[in-house]
Amino acid sequence: MNFFVGSRDIFIEIEFFHAFINQEFLGITFRALKSAYMSLRMVFYLISCIFIYFVIPSWSYNSMKSFLQKNANVVSSTSKFSSLTSHFPDRFSVAPMMDYTNRHQRKLQRWLTKHTTLYTEMVVATTIIYTKQLDRHLEADFTLEEPLVLQLGGSIPSQMKEAAKIAYDYGYRQFNLNVGCPSDTVADNGCFGAALMLKPDLVSELVLAIQESLPTPLPVTVKCRLAVNNEESYEFLYNFVETVSTKGKIKHFIVHARNAILGGKFSPDQNRKIPPLKYHYVYRLMNDFPHLYFTLNGGLQTYEEIEDKLVPLESNLGNLQNKVHGVMVGRSIINQPFYWRNIDSRIYSSVDPGMVLLRFCYFVNSK
Ligand SMILES: Cc1cc2nc3c(=O)[nH]c(=O)nc-3n(C[C@H](O)[C@H](O)[C@H](O)COP(=O)(O)O)c2cc1C
Repeated sequence: MNFFVGSRDIFIEIEFFHAFINQEFLGITFRALKSAYMSLRMVFYLISCIFIYFVIPSWSYNSMKSFLQKNANVVSSTSKFSSLTSHFPDRFSVAPMMDYTNRHQRKLQRWLTKHTTLYTEMVVATTIIYTKQLDRHLEADFTLEEPLVLQLGGSIPSQMKEAAKIAYDYGYRQFNLNVGCPSDTVADNGCFGAALMLKPDLVSELVLAIQESLPTPLPVTVKCRLAVNNEESYEFLYNFVETVSTKGKIKHFIVHARNAILGGKFSPDQNRKIPPLKYHYVYRLMNDFPHLYFTLNGGLQTYEEIEDKLVPLESNLGNLQNKVHGVMVGRSIINQPFYWRNIDSRIYSSVDPGMVLLRFCYFVNSK
């Protein structure tokens, strides 16, 4: 630079200028790099935020959802006639209970056990025929709740036929006739519920009416008592079962093993407690009707009691002494639902579904 410019002042000025330029240039470069780095950081930060707050939660939600749906499908695809339970699918059932076994209770129950047979509350035939709110009475999640039985109440065969057809079209594939409800409102109203124990011919007509309404043969069963009022003989029960099984073509009876006392003497609650249980009557039915299936109901509360009474899974129905094909539990399910979380492993030699709480959280969150 000295070579081109003679003046010392100018030289100093130019040196100064150069220094200034260099410094400024470095400063600008540094600032540019710094702001580029800051921008990159900001972009990285923004992308991380998008991942953390949107992508990852949505991914885990979707995978959780598909996982749960896959599990629900596993539940729904559990065939009633899978090899596991081929000789008798209804080893364990949850009793139909008015105001309890609605679709919410059944959903929880199905999360606890895949194999148990579930029942609806009793739905009266005329309600199905005349209601303007069919969903309110019949709604069910068929993909989840099967095996599911609709319990029907009624005493007029033509109505029973019409109601069963509506229920079939709605999605039900198993039907049960209530011949055990001792409530006076039911017993007096056209004589149905436990009062039908006195009319085995009418019961046969009712169950035939249900079967005729179905386009293909499907399970139709009867839930009954031992007898009514002070009828104590085994022969009464024997005649009832013989008539209904032959005339009504019923193969499976669920027996609440105590009498029903009609006429308003006992409340429904007392009628489930006071008349003594006689399991041995049901064991006798097992011996006398080896071609039929029997489910024992009434007062069962523990796995040990049940395991003791059930025909073993491996058995070829050899020794039926004091054994039944299936059991049905009612109030104990209401009183201690989570005690019954091991039904699949203990009764069906299968695997318990588990993860009930997780499914429940997903269910609550999806509401
Ligand atoms: C609250 C309640 C409601 C019931 N509703 C019905 C019903 O709608 N249909 C029926 O057949 N039995 C009904 N039952 C009787 C039960 O299905 C079962 O036969 C009875 O409770 C005996 O079984 P458990 O000793 O295991 O409870 C009801 C029982 C209870 C406790």
